[in-house]
Amino acid sequence: MAKIIISAFLCLAMFGSLAQAAAGACREANGTAPVAGSCDAYIECKNGVAEEKLCPDGLLYNEKSTGYPCSYPIDVECTQPQARLQAAQPTDECPHQFGYYRMGDASHCGQFMNCAAGRGFVFDCPEGLAWNPATYKCDWPDQVEDCDAEAFLGFRCPPLAPKSDLLGEQEQDYTFHPSQENCQVYFICIEGRPRRIGCGEDQAFNQELNQCDDIDNVPNCSSDIRAKGAEIKAARASAAAGRRKLN
Ligand SMILES: *[C@@H]1O[C@H](CO)[C@@H](O)[C@H](O)[C@H]1NC(C)=O
Ligand SMILES: *[C@@H]1O[C@H](CO)[C@@H](O)[C@H](O)[C@H]1NC(C)=O
Repeated sequence: MAKIIISAFLCLAMFGSLAQAAAGACREANGTAPVAGSCDAYIECKNGVAEEKLCPDGLLYNEKSTGYPCSYPIDVECTQPQARLQAAQPTDECPHQFGYYRMGDASHCGQFMNCAAGRGFVFDCPEGLAWNPATYKCDWPDQVEDCDAEAFLGFRCPPLAPKSDLLGEQEQDYTFHPSQENCQVYFICIEGRPRRIGCGEDQAFNQELNQCDDIDNVPNCSSDIRAKGAEIKAARASAAAGRRKLN
């Protein structure tokens, strides 16, 4: 008899505490809530019944999300003190099951990988741009920590002129430099760090204007490049003429 009473009591106690936990965890009948001390676990409530869940490896619980409750770390501000994370589940390709990851070293910063369920998909930034893990965007390489812009772009900026505050001269912050290999490319050095700028296909860098200009105005391009530029301009002109006829 005593046994039955004790187990009934235990049962009641357990049920009571579960229900209490659920009631406490669920702020709404249907929704999610954070788990104290964790950034990737969360409570999911369905009809007021709470269940603890874990985001996929590499994602974090996003309290602000109105849809799927897990997001990339960059979109989540997890303020749990001393927060735990589940152990990483790396694959041959990926450090975590999900996420965006930079590839290469400081002189190869233009590629990144998107991991989805442990499979890695490699992407290239547009030429001259580097993957910025701080913003999840392709960015000027001088803006990306751990990217050596000069090594990455293969262009070394001339040494900065010593600053002379005494003369009160306007400092020149930018210098322009043609690419030695490609007349349609130039570099801007900003505080000694280069950015690569490509002109359009029918344009080239004009050193007198320090900007891209109609390819016909830049005699320095090879005849191949000039011919290609002329072709593109002709195609554009005939497309524009076609549109005018239709209108
Ligand atoms: C919660 O979801 C269930 C099923 O999806 C639904 O029947 C119920 O009405 C919802 N409750 C609230 C308070 O929205
Ligand atoms: C062509 O190249 C020469 C020598 O590199 C340079 O001085 C000149 O300014 C260039 N012309 C243009 C239009 O870029």
